[in-house]
Amino acid sequence: MSAATMMAGRLNVETGTFAMAEVPVPEPGPGFVRVKVEAAGVCLSDVHLIQGLLKPKFLQGNEVTLGHEVAGTVDLAGPGTEHRVSPGDRVVIQAGYEHNGVTLTMGVDYDGGWAEYVCVPAGVLVPLGEEIPFDQAAIIPDAVSTPWGAIAGTADVRAGEAVGVWGIGGLGAHGVQLLRMVGAAPIVAVDPIPEARQRALDFGADVALDPLDPGFAAALKTATGGRGLDVALDFAGVDAVRAQALASLAVRGRLVLVGLSGTPLTIADSTGFSYARRQILGHYGSEAQHVPQLVDLTRLGRLDFARSVSGRLPLADAEKAVMALDRKEGNPIRLVLIP
Ligand SMILES: NC(=O)c1ccc[n+]([C@@H]2O[C@H](COP(=O)([O-])OP(=O)(O)OC[C@H]3O[C@@H](n4cnc5c(N)ncnc54)[C@H](O)[C@@H]3O)[C@@H](O)[C@H]2O)c1
Repeated sequence: MSAATMMAGRLNVETGTFAMAEVPVPEPGPGFVRVKVEAAGVCLSDVHLIQGLLKPKFLQGNEVTLGHEVAGTVDLAGPGTEHRVSPGDRVVIQAGYEHNGVTLTMGVDYDGGWAEYVCVPAGVLVPLGEEIPFDQAAIIPDAVSTPWGAIAGTADVRAGEAVGVWGIGGLGAHGVQLLRMVGAAPIVAVDPIPEARQRALDFGADVALDPLDPGFAAALKTATGGRGLDVALDFAGVDAVRAQALASLAVRGRLVLVGLSGTPLTIADSTGFSYARRQILGHYGSEAQHVPQLVDLTRLGRLDFARSVSGRLPLADAEKAVMALDRKEGNPIRLVLIP
């Protein structure tokens, strides 16, 4: 039997107050399953939510338990799901689902996994098997699946294409690994933090550039044989990235906006943009097939997230983890909370 109450990291989206709180253990309704959280990742989107830069669109009420990167074990099958799951099953949770024609995101529009237990529809559970540790599995939805959705889906990157990656944090570090796997070449990583650039090279980038370097444009040109980038991926969510990435595109190049900055987008050279038939594409999350694909790719040894978990903190230290990610203390890839 689980306790009647549990610890959860709650955000009041009106006041911007984040705090650990004692809340009732949720009961799974029809079609839902209660999962005992074993590990939950901390994403820059959580920082954006706390800072008010991102607002939930479909949240009922003012408060939500954060946490959209979650792995755990099935605790209780709700009505109608008993045949689909069994207590003790190791699972990773897809971060979103469609409901009445809209996409609801866990830890944004409904209570997420910075808690001891979370209730989710049975359809978002992906079986994990025995091999992948919970802390590495937890970050697959989002830190790995969002760049995978952007690369394999929205950008449709082909082998041999020149790809630039802006931001080598949680998403971008995995973006580099995934680009290596699909045969992108060259892979040009961009990040102002020297340790992040070194990380990009360690993870398979061919070149790592400082966006503030006055020689940036020339270095990018050299790296791509004068052509520019077929694909530029914004995994930073910083305004300056967009102008620099647009200026780095080849003819027919496409810029994929994954980073969420919340500010208007400007195309400075709009005639050049049309003349070169460039594209800007928005990207959000991943499709249903992406997390299961990534679990299989990991099991089959094509991907390895052993280096991705920069630190494990007790759930009670969620606020500390948020501050560490915001300030880039210790230059984390992903910090993971353990209830
Ligand atoms: N669209 C989606 O579905 C989706 C999903 C998850 C996260 N996000 C967004 O993606 C962004 C990245 O998230 P994360 O958790 O990987 O963040 P992170 O903090 O782990 O990494 C961001 C990286 O960007 C780098 N950066 C800062 N300024 C830069 C610049 N001018 N040029 C290049 N790099 C720069 C930072 O040094 C850091 O290494 C955030 O905006 C987040 O909200 C979007």
